Amino acid sequence: MFRVLAILIFAAASFAQTAPLTYVPASRLAHLRHGINLSEWFAQVYDPKGYTKEHFETWTTPQDIALIKSAGFDHVRLSVNPQPMMDAMQGQDHGAEYFGYLDAAMKMILDAGLAVQLDMHPDSDFKARLNDDEFVERFADFWRMVARHYSSWDPERVFFEILNEPEMHDPYRWYGVETKLTTAIRQVAPAHTIIASGANWDDDDDMIFLEPLRDPNVIYVFHFYEPHIFTHQSATWGEYYWRWVKGLHYPSSPENAAQVAAGVPEAPDRLYVIRYGQDHWDASRIDAEINQAADWARRNHVPLICNEFGVFRYGADPQDRIRWITDVRTSLERHNIGWAMWDYSGSFGVVTKQNGKATLDEATVRALGLSMP
Ligand code: BGC
Repeated sequence: MFRVLAILIFAAASFAQTAPLTYVPASRLAHLRHGINLSEWFAQVYDPKGYTKEHFETWTTPQDIALIKSAGFDHVRLSVNPQPMMDAMQGQDHGAEYFGYLDAAMKMILDAGLAVQLDMHPDSDFKARLNDDEFVERFADFWRMVARHYSSWDPERVFFEILNEPEMHDPYRWYGVETKLTTAIRQVAPAHTIIASGANWDDDDDMIFLEPLRDPNVIYVFHFYEPHIFTHQSATWGEYYWRWVKGLHYPSSPENAAQVAAGVPEAPDRLYVIRYGQDHWDASRIDAEINQAADWARRNHVPLICNEFGVFRYGADPQDRIRWITDVRTSLERHNIGWAMWDYSGSFGVVTKQNGKATLDEATVRALGLSMP
């Protein structure tokens, strides 16, 4: 009798562990296979026009959206800086004009047959304020307003991404904050799928720290720029020493890394470069890394996407960049992970824009497994 009971308890316990936690409809995940990031439109605006009507109405055009669609992308990730929206909401029209610009952008995307990830993408100082509980409440309130506004929009093709790269160094705190924000969105948008991330930089190790949230209608996200020393060589943001790293090839070799290290002023930074060479980064090393994220999702029975990956195009050798994009994209697809490359026309982009006209870079399009229209 005791044995039978023990077996039953054991069976129940193992069922509890393997029961699916997610109820994201497959039809929705099918819209998120091949995406591109629309940057510098509603967030990180470097255009001298700033966050203005003129900028919003001209930065990304219907021709851009048509080009994205015709190249075979099925969705875009639209970065939105919450701060100017919050400011606009303090105005007399309670943000109606600002929402109008965002609505027009979202409508243009959806009308072209694409899906859209509405990605909350603030600057670092905004994210730092999330260490204050009262600011978390304000941000939750803001998300409630945004989610309520879009709650009548097609839940099959509109997705809410809570926060890009939270930059929160305490992952336990982020877990609590993310739970609060998910609840706020869910209160007003019962049908929409939410995209949730790990703390800090959305790296794969940030994500695998996470315990899945209680909400079943959630997709989990990570970003993939590994190894940063290659993808962000010459970059003037992020780690300071990246600006000294030039001519680092992919796949990596000790000989090339030693040569590049010679041009890096500080000894610890030289060591990072030498390590990159010794670590033999190639397709199988990348796949081993992505497999860790895929494995976390499999074990937790949750869907997973990677909505940023790419190489700074003014840093790496163009052919190495293409090899890296091909290897990452192929690995993501092998693990059935929907992806979105960073970005459309920015410094990691798939097009070059001149006088408002976009030209697709054929090698990047092919590295993404897509074909030229
Ligand atoms: C940041 C961008 C940056 C990109 C690659 C994004 O998450 O918002 O500013 O260019 O990552 O580093």
